[in-house]
Amino acid sequence: MSYETISVEPLSPVIGAEISGVDLSRPLGNQMFAEIHDALMQHQVIFFRDQEMDWDQHKAFGRLFGELHIHPTAPAPEGHPEILTVHADETSERVAGQGWHSDVSCDAEPPLGSILHIQQAPDVGGDTMFASAYAAYDALSEPMKAFLGTLKAKHEGRHRYLGRNKRTGKMRDGEDVYPEALHPVIRTHPVTGRKALFVNSVFTTRIEGLSDTESRALLDFLCEHINTPEFRCHFKWRKNSVAFWDNRCVQHHAVWDYYPQVRHGYRVTVQGDRPF
Ligand code: SIN
Repeated sequence: MSYETISVEPLSPVIGAEISGVDLSRPLGNQMFAEIHDALMQHQVIFFRDQEMDWDQHKAFGRLFGELHIHPTAPAPEGHPEILTVHADETSERVAGQGWHSDVSCDAEPPLGSILHIQQAPDVGGDTMFASAYAAYDALSEPMKAFLGTLKAKHEGRHRYLGRNKRTGKMRDGEDVYPEALHPVIRTHPVTGRKALFVNSVFTTRIEGLSDTESRALLDFLCEHINTPEFRCHFKWRKNSVAFWDNRCVQHHAVWDYYPQVRHGYRVTVQGDRPF
């Protein structure tokens, strides 16, 4: 693929690329937007450095890709329900994004993508790992691909969100049940047409139609499979770095190796479609 308005530097042959020549705080021309979209489709997660954005600019960039998603439980800054705060310091008992996952896959229409802007990074550590769910699918044997292609899995939010986020009131839009959904184990990306593994260790609780033992064994295998080093890249954050990942074909895992240092930023999440 050739790019005229941006520079694209892959982080690995499989997943991830750093983009330069863009100021995300300003309106993008049609050509630049199309090239950023192409780079996301090709590399699955893209990174930008030295971006100063306020919440409105961050949301405006996200809205170029679709409506914004509102998290089911995380508290948002007053007047900005689409902003998710990502923060860790010496008082944290856990941090956002631990464990391999695709964001909020327990929603019936899980997010298309997530755009994280880190404004304060630890001196060392705090990387995020990203794994290609295309590569995970492609590496499976043909009989396993065929078998998984017939299956659906349950994704649930309750065990992840209960007791988190100091939630005291109702959830998003007055919902009073934690989200859960049934999704295909292998999904087809609506833009690229490529197939991707779509179960993860954080939200997927059961594979439908199998016995408990079979379901657990298969989920354990698939959740370990995504952890294969060859499927992934690691991103080192600096102040004002931005990562934009496509949740339809990427899983990520935020590494919390920097306690008690501070890591702080904001995420805007783009609404997706029902997986097929
Ligand atoms: C997240 O899952 O959005 C958090 C990722 C990170 O903090 O690197």
